[in-house]
Amino acid sequence: MLQLTDVETYYGESHVLHGVSLRLEPGEAVGLLGRNGAGKSTVIRTIVGFTPPRSGSIRFFDHELAGLPSYKIARLGIGLVPQGRRIFPDLTVRENLTLAARDQAGGWTLGRVMDHFPRLRERQSQLAGTLSGGELQMVAIGRALMTNPRLLLMDEPSEGLAPMIVREIGAIIAELKAEKLSFVLVEQNLSLALDSVDRAYVMNKGAIVFEGTPGELLADEAVHRQYLGV
Ligand SMILES: Nc1ncnc2c1ncn2[C@@H]1O[C@H](COP(=O)(O)OP(=O)(O)OP(=O)(O)O)[C@@H](O)[C@H]1O
Ligand SMILES: [Mg+2]
Repeated sequence: MLQLTDVETYYGESHVLHGVSLRLEPGEAVGLLGRNGAGKSTVIRTIVGFTPPRSGSIRFFDHELAGLPSYKIARLGIGLVPQGRRIFPDLTVRENLTLAARDQAGGWTLGRVMDHFPRLRERQSQLAGTLSGGELQMVAIGRALMTNPRLLLMDEPSEGLAPMIVREIGAIIAELKAEKLSFVLVEQNLSLALDSVDRAYVMNKGAIVFEGTPGELLADEAVHRQYLGV
């Protein structure tokens, strides 16, 4: 459903992505790993059109995304949970969730999102600016689900959260996987990533340096040492 081929992305004259190719099949969960500055967010930003590729192709079903404006890419059914969450602090939880909602028969509704996040139901009238980091992350995921995406892109959902809250987010991601939602999960938390995906890519210096199953990645000590710092 998603296929990047030889993608090259720049910030101004700074060449950041070098020939990135990756794919995702319907219902698949794919991880994107790598150290700080490896280029993970730039891949996400390239897919959603925030920093379009200078060359290469991004196919999503039968659409070419390269060159399309972000709002059109979102409308094709790509949901984003951005790094840093980007929630509106002066709106309530409920307002943040419903802001970008798009109805779909049998899809995600406010009620269904709150079934997955009981804490958000309790806090639905609270201003988002007063939420904890973990709760904000739940709003960010819930908001993206409310657009009823065919593909969900999550950029470091566990970042900055306490271990107990990371486990909670991990449980939610496992539920999404069980429901066969297609997603790309960017993570620096290796165990969370490997528990959550069917296949993983590792990036270094703007290029893909490994692709394989969680089992294959766990078995490859050189990749761990060189690119994941464990
Ligand atoms: N707006 C920008 N202008 C110029 N360079 C940028 C910009 N954003 C990112 N970069 C550079 O691009 C490279 C890749 O950054 P990117 O944010 O994609 O990394 P990342 O893998 O997501 O890292 P992290 O795990 O820290 O979020 C880095 O060298 C970074 O400094
Ligand atoms: Mg990033």
